[in-house]
Amino acid sequence: MAQRILVTGGAGYIGSHTCVALRQAGYEPVIYDNFSNASRQVLKRLAAICGSAPEVIEGDVRDRAAIETALRSHDIRAVIHFAALKSASESIEMPLAYYDNNVHGTVQLLSAMRACNVASLVFSSSAAVYGDAERMPVREDSQRAAQSPYGRTKIICEDLLSDISRAEPGWSIARLRYFNPFGAHESGLIGEDTRGVPPNLGPYLTQVAAGQRVQLSVFGGDYDTRDGTGVRDFIHVVDLAEGHIAALRKLEGDAGLLTVNLGTGTGYTVLEMIAAFAKASGRPVPYVIAPRRKGDIAECYADVSRAREMLDWRARRGLAEMCADAWRWQIRNPEGYASDPHREKAML
Ligand code: NAD
Ligand code: UD1
Repeated sequence: MAQRILVTGGAGYIGSHTCVALRQAGYEPVIYDNFSNASRQVLKRLAAICGSAPEVIEGDVRDRAAIETALRSHDIRAVIHFAALKSASESIEMPLAYYDNNVHGTVQLLSAMRACNVASLVFSSSAAVYGDAERMPVREDSQRAAQSPYGRTKIICEDLLSDISRAEPGWSIARLRYFNPFGAHESGLIGEDTRGVPPNLGPYLTQVAAGQRVQLSVFGGDYDTRDGTGVRDFIHVVDLAEGHIAALRKLEGDAGLLTVNLGTGTGYTVLEMIAAFAKASGRPVPYVIAPRRKGDIAECYADVSRAREMLDWRARRGLAEMCADAWRWQIRNPEGYASDPHREKAML
């Protein structure tokens, strides 16, 4: 029987793509999500891609008893822990909610896992832990210096995981530091379902190309980069999802703690992204150069040698594919999962 993997936050952007990758790799995902930032529509879409929808448990990661029930009743072998709040800017306004969801949620999850003897965990960390690193590309042993409460919650969870694995050697834990996910599944059925004004470049760019927003503000044109705009390591969300399968496989063979960057190793500027997206969509992307955004850094891209060596994984999809897939998701779902149900019926 396929090994069952509990996927907290499995209805979200990266989680839903990881559920597809898990099925393709012969695992059985069980989604555990409170739907605070996800739509139940994603389940129908997953069914259309995978043949059947994964089982879903509606619950909160801060509810230890409910997680224990989920782990026991489903004979769970490992957990992939995506469930968290993820906006750096929002975390400055509401730090308590971030510490509660991200840190307290992880403590409750780990306590439940320990009580149920489930000792294999893949944890979603972020390039946000590095802050304004001195040298590029950033290596896993670069100093961590998060610039936001959000980034600090990820550092605290990372430290909690290393303390636990030191104290209790039976744990197998992967701390995966994601760079900037973009794109969508090639089917156009699942993607990033942004609510309100998108804080990140990818969805904003997509909505400008679609004519839903007038223009993109490029935050800062005077950075010390090749064209003056910020540089980031954009990674296709499906590559990122596949990185989790590689990590799970690695954990099967090895107890201990693993920390790995998941990026492409290549940085692109905001202007290069605009040009790539305009080409992929065939639409103009009007933009203005605006003042720098508070807390932003000039550039951030990953050293990916450890991912290659330890996980035998590398990102395979490039910028053009990321943009084309993001565009397909956008035109088929102009309102995300809340798009016209007739249109949805026609797609399925
Ligand atoms: P997302 O918001 O799309 O998914 C998170 C999911 O977790 C949502 O389905 C939400 O409903 C659920 N959730 C939130 N709090 C919960 C709780 N207390 N209990 C149960 N479910 C809860 O976000 P995403 O982009 O898929 O990110 C997934 C993970 O990756 C997060 O931990 C995030 O911090 C991390 N990450 C994301 C990015 C990015 O740019 N998207 C970059 C680096 C790291
Ligand atoms: C942001 C978060 C980071 C988080 C990451 C992934 C901040 C300061 N950092 O990082 O904690 O891990 O998202 O969720 O919020 N840009 C524009 N115009 C826009 C939006 C963005 O020019 O409308 C630029 C930014 O200035 C930056 C680049 O695009 O240079 C990427 O921005 P974004 O997508 O927000 O990601 P990060 O800043 O890397």
